[in-house]
Amino acid sequence: MIKVIVSGFNGSMGQKAVKMVNSNADLQLVAGFNPVVKERNPAKYGLAKEVKIFNRLEDIDVAADIWIDFSIPSAVYENTKFAIEHGFRPVIGTSGMSEEQTQQLKKLADSKNLGGIIASNFGLSAVLMMKFAQVAAKYFDESEIVEKHHEDKIDAPSGTALNTARLIYEARGHDQVQHSNNDPMKTRGGDYHGTKIHALRLPGFVADEEVIFGGTGETLTISQSTTDRESFMTGVKLAIHEVMKQDHLVIGLEKII
Ligand SMILES: NC(=O)c1ccc[n+]([C@@H]2O[C@H](COP(=O)([O-])OP(=O)(O)OC[C@H]3O[C@@H](n4cnc5c(N)ncnc54)[C@H](O)[C@@H]3O)[C@@H](O)[C@H]2O)c1
Repeated sequence: MIKVIVSGFNGSMGQKAVKMVNSNADLQLVAGFNPVVKERNPAKYGLAKEVKIFNRLEDIDVAADIWIDFSIPSAVYENTKFAIEHGFRPVIGTSGMSEEQTQQLKKLADSKNLGGIIASNFGLSAVLMMKFAQVAAKYFDESEIVEKHHEDKIDAPSGTALNTARLIYEARGHDQVQHSNNDPMKTRGGDYHGTKIHALRLPGFVADEEVIFGGTGETLTISQSTTDRESFMTGVKLAIHEVMKQDHLVIGLEKII
């Protein structure tokens, strides 16, 4: 039995993680964590009486194998550090961590031979899109990314867009050539080693992304669309089983599929 703690258990993604854990016979929810909650009775959240609810990291005293985190960008680094230090294998979906923070956590987990994953996107369509973009980047020198999310998303660009840009940069091995432009209204978007990233925040979207490659007389668009957040749980489940076998922190679901 794989014992799981869900951090951000009563948020939108946290609830889906709880549902996924509860519907898999080899997974057991042992605790939920959220410092914002006052109520610690699991029944109030529709959870079994054995599930412990914590609102302070220092109170967490349960044995667990996995720490799933769907919390908030400002808390995810401390939460993940806590999980690693206590031997809980982190399965981190929360976005917003800097590259430096991610590398620090990787060093910490690797030094303890602890498996784990930080994935900006647990959706299979998004991860495959990133893989296909990496292949295309070898043949097209120029590309731009357009990511579209719901209006409540706090951070921009999305972790997936940033990760896509990173993979494109790694595949090319050099910065994308910049064309001079006159852009007083800053309409050309953000920039990652020359790849422009445009972030849309509008009601109606869940999480979509397009990567557009431009070449001489042709373009290639790779596009993925998330219509239901339930889709992320396929990747989370896959990741849980994979990190139980790993002895280091993996960055990106694309590394394990
Ligand atoms: N990797 C992926 O595939 C993926 C998919 C969707 C969303 N996300 C990310 O997951 C995160 C959560 O998204 P959401 O839509 O569920 O947000 P949400 O606002 O619905 O839920 C976040 C929850 O975290 C709680 N919280 C606040 N501080 C906390 C802390 N210190 N520790 C633990 N919990 C805390 C909040 O009270 C809330 O219940 C976001 O960063 C989002 O971008 C990732």
